[in-house]
Amino acid sequence: MKKVVSTIVLGCVAMPLLMLSCKHEIPTPPNVVITPSPTPTPTPTPGTPGNNTGGNSTCSADTVYFQNDLFPLINSGCNTSGCHDAVSHADGVDLSSYDKIRGYVSAGDAARSKLYKVLVKSGSERMPLPPLPAFTADQIAKVQKWINQGAKNNACTGGCDTTNITYTAAVQPLMQTYCTGCHNAASPGGGIDLSSYAQVKTYASNGRLLGTISYATGYSPMPKGSKMQDCQITQIRKWIEAGALNN
Ligand code: HEC
Repeated sequence: MKKVVSTIVLGCVAMPLLMLSCKHEIPTPPNVVITPSPTPTPTPTPGTPGNNTGGNSTCSADTVYFQNDLFPLINSGCNTSGCHDAVSHADGVDLSSYDKIRGYVSAGDAARSKLYKVLVKSGSERMPLPPLPAFTADQIAKVQKWINQGAKNNACTGGCDTTNITYTAAVQPLMQTYCTGCHNAASPGGGIDLSSYAQVKTYASNGRLLGTISYATGYSPMPKGSKMQDCQITQIRKWIEAGALNN
């Protein structure tokens, strides 16, 4: 643990000139609160995204939504202690809210947007800073699409199926969106790596996975700063109840 952390800190110190550099400090305060900007944002915030378990979903498969799809990724991959949260804002870059994130985006033009460009760079110019894992191709495509669709502060409700939950189709993508930015081999927050089935299974079995994501008493609320949607928590709960299979 100690070794991993100091390696990351070193990496950070060694590259102070990078536009975005990063280290993960462990532990961080248990609940980094992401407050949407105090000034009203132009786009409406719907009730509770994802609470609808079927039927009248407002989610369009062709749209990438900031609140449902984008913010969880940035929250886990960038808005972290020592990196680009409101307190650390490494290299002056704060990615803790829509308004802040919007400052690194040229709406409609991903290719000219810093937020996108740093994801596809290589070596030490890439974000998240190596040895932190790169965004997956799918995650990069989401960022690109969201920007090209106008980088709106949008959200939808529904679009989360709670039947036939599998690890591959539901649980793993949720981990990749909400957790692995902080819980990976290079930076295992709290000593916990959630990037493989075996590791997720361990925390599914000992109750900590469900305890943390449901913000239950006695557990650190996870993800820090933005609770998963009820429907997504239900997906994970059902997967655990069915035996937390590698399916
Ligand atoms: C912004 C970074 C961040 C994100 C995102 C995040 N974690 Fe954590 N997590 C941490 C840190 C740091 C710790 C150790 C300190 C603590 O417990 O608060 C931790 C601790 C934990 C623990 C042990 C604490 C306990 O009470 O048992 C579990 C389990 C956990 N995280 C699961 C998750 C899951 C599941 C997700 C995604 C749904 C997630 N985390 C998202 C940073 C994060």
